[in-house]
Amino acid sequence: MTLTFPVLQEKTIKTSTFSNRYVLAPMSRASAGADGVPTENMAEYYAGFARGGYGLIITEGAFTDEKWAQCYSGQPGLVNDAQEMGWQRVVQAIKAEAGKVILQLIHAGAVSQHIMEPVAPSPVRPAGSMLHGYGHRQGAYDVPDELSLAQIEIIKRGFYQAALRAEAAGFDGVEIHCANGYLLDQFLTAETNLRQDQYGGTLENRIRLTQEIIREAQGATKSDFIVGVRLSQAKANIQDYFWPNGLADAKVIFQAVADAGADFIHLASEKEGYAVHSYTEAGENLTTYARDLTGLPVVANGGLHVVVDANELIASRKADFVSIGKTAMLNPDLPKRVAEGRELQEFTFDMFKYGVTIEAQQQWEGEQAALGPT
Ligand SMILES: Cc1cc2nc3c(=O)[nH]c(=O)nc-3n(C[C@H](O)[C@H](O)[C@H](O)COP(=O)(O)O)c2cc1C
Repeated sequence: MTLTFPVLQEKTIKTSTFSNRYVLAPMSRASAGADGVPTENMAEYYAGFARGGYGLIITEGAFTDEKWAQCYSGQPGLVNDAQEMGWQRVVQAIKAEAGKVILQLIHAGAVSQHIMEPVAPSPVRPAGSMLHGYGHRQGAYDVPDELSLAQIEIIKRGFYQAALRAEAAGFDGVEIHCANGYLLDQFLTAETNLRQDQYGGTLENRIRLTQEIIREAQGATKSDFIVGVRLSQAKANIQDYFWPNGLADAKVIFQAVADAGADFIHLASEKEGYAVHSYTEAGENLTTYARDLTGLPVVANGGLHVVVDANELIASRKADFVSIGKTAMLNPDLPKRVAEGRELQEFTFDMFKYGVTIEAQQQWEGEQAALGPT
């Protein structure tokens, strides 16, 4: 029996039609070569989600310049021909399973756990401490160097060239990462952006760099190439952060990315998930607001693997897509399981016992299989 749910209906963005509303959320697996080139194992890993029925795959964040953008060791990049070729193999493996794939483009800024002299909008030490299990650097973050206007131009060029390379590699689009406390979110956030030039001060100024990057990526690529944006209130290093002025901030941010030409808005909600982080502190729902304000397709995120919740979001028009993170790692066939009414495998942090890489997961899965059914 195949079930028909709102979340299993197709949906179009630009000229691309996605077979259902399930999106693989971007997840860094730190599994590339030391040269940032995606591996064959990564190609097979991503193809598995296409085979399992995800309407859209969004890859882990790829870094956008040689000098400052890399977040972690083992992170893939898209800054040279070898990396482009590696991604092309990933895209081909996904396309062979009739999948669709968007590449996430990320710049670490102040929270890099890889480079020794990080850069940021302002010399403000990031809150919290480096993420466990990623990169060779752990402990407190460094105070970053403040970017000059000339250096900001280099960052923009990195995103622009990476978008061009993504199109050449065969991706259906790119997602610009302005979420979770990474560089573009550092610009957006008043506490980490003390600048007094056109990139600091008002919220309109603080979202300007993201707008310029979206606009340039759209301008560089063909009209059917998708350029989306990921936003969030919370940050990897400040998990309970809310936009300080609630809907008033949301209005400026959502309108700005829409004006710049974004094709979709993806709202990340880690830790306590959609029900907490996709609402303002005063309790207004942000995905509905983004949809109503901009008319753009909106991707909801955060603990949305429970099928009734996903169906409710789509049916009540709070969102157009749902992205699945942790649970997807253990259910690369989640959309097929949902269509067939089969149970999902429950996520457990135990899967990171040997590390966050794809190879570490395979080692853990091998061990689980040897133990047999519980
Ligand atoms: C291992 C791991 C790696 C992640 N890497 C990224 C990333 O590269 N880019 C990003 O925007 N979010 C990243 N995230 C956040 C997820 O995309 C997602 O927002 C989060 O896991 C919440 O969704 P979930 O409740 O379905 O897991 C990562 C999350 C996990 C667990």
